Amino acid sequence: MTKRQSLFVFALTALAALAPVTAFAGEGEGLLEANTHLSDPASLQRGAKLFMNYCSGCHSLKYLRYGRMADDLGLSEKQVQENLNFTGAKYLDHVNVAMNPTDAANWFGKTPPDLSLEGRARGPNWIYTYLKSFYADESRPSGWNNTVLPNASMPNVLWQLQGVAHPVTEPKHGDEPCAKGEFEGKCIKDLAVDDAHKGQLTPEEYDRAALDITAFLQYAAEPAALQRTQYGWKVILFLAFFTFLAYLLKREYWRDVH
Ligand code: HEC
Repeated sequence: MTKRQSLFVFALTALAALAPVTAFAGEGEGLLEANTHLSDPASLQRGAKLFMNYCSGCHSLKYLRYGRMADDLGLSEKQVQENLNFTGAKYLDHVNVAMNPTDAANWFGKTPPDLSLEGRARGPNWIYTYLKSFYADESRPSGWNNTVLPNASMPNVLWQLQGVAHPVTEPKHGDEPCAKGEFEGKCIKDLAVDDAHKGQLTPEEYDRAALDITAFLQYAAEPAALQRTQYGWKVILFLAFFTFLAYLLKREYWRDVH
C-alpha cells in the first residue's frame, strides 16, 4: 500500500468510528433530559442493583466484569457476589446472561441486545426516556409497546414499580405523522398511570429508579470515565504547582537583568 492509500484507509476507518455517534445524533428530539451524576456512587449502586434484578436476566454487559464493577462502585466482593450476581458467575467473570440466545429469540421474537455500549450508542437521554415510555398495548405479542422504540419486543419489566401506563390520545390532523406514534388510529399525546394501575413507586421515585439505571448503563459503557475525572484534578493541581515553580524560576533568572 502506498502512503497515500494508507492515509485514505486511515481516514475511512476514522469516519467509520464516528458513524455511531452521528447515526443517532438526529434522535435527540422529544427525549427527556437525563440528569445523571456519575460522581454519585449511591446512584450507581442503586442502578447496578436494579439492573441486576430486572435486566440482567435478558441483557448482558459483556465488557464489564463483576470485580471491576465492585471496585468502581465502592462495593465489596461479598456484597457483589451475594446481592448482585445471580448467575453463579465468578467474581472476575463478565456480566453474561444465563439465558440461551436462541430461546430468547423464540420467546421475544428478538435476542435482547448486549447493553455494554448502550450508554454511548443511544446516550443517557434516550435510555431514560425509553424506560419511561412503555404503555399497555393488547395488539402487541408482549402486551406492551413503547413510544421511543415503536413495536419494541421488550415488555415493561419495571411495571410493578412504575404501574401500567396507558396512552392519552388526540385525533390525527390529516396526514401529519404523530410525534409519539399512533394508538388505535389516534395520535399518542401522553402516557399516564391512572389510580387503578398504580405501581409500588410514586412517579418521582420511579423517575429516580429510571435515572439510576441510566447512570449505571452510562458508567458501564465507559468505566474509565470515573477514574478520568479523579485524575483530572490531580493533573490540574500538578499543572498549577508547576506553573508556580516556573514563575519562581523566571523571577530568579530575570532578577539580574532588571
Ligand atoms: C424479558 C427480557 C428482557 C428484560 C428482562 C429486559 N429487556 Fe431490554 N430488551 C429486550 C428485548 C427483546 C429487546 C429488543 C427490543 C427490540 O429491538 O424490539 C430489548 C431492548 C432494550 C433496549 C434497547 C436496545 C436498543 O438500542 O435498541 C434497552 C435500552 C433495554 N432493552 C434496556 C433494558 C433495561 C434497562 C432492562 C431492565 C430494567 C431491560 N432492558 C430488561 C428484552 C428484555
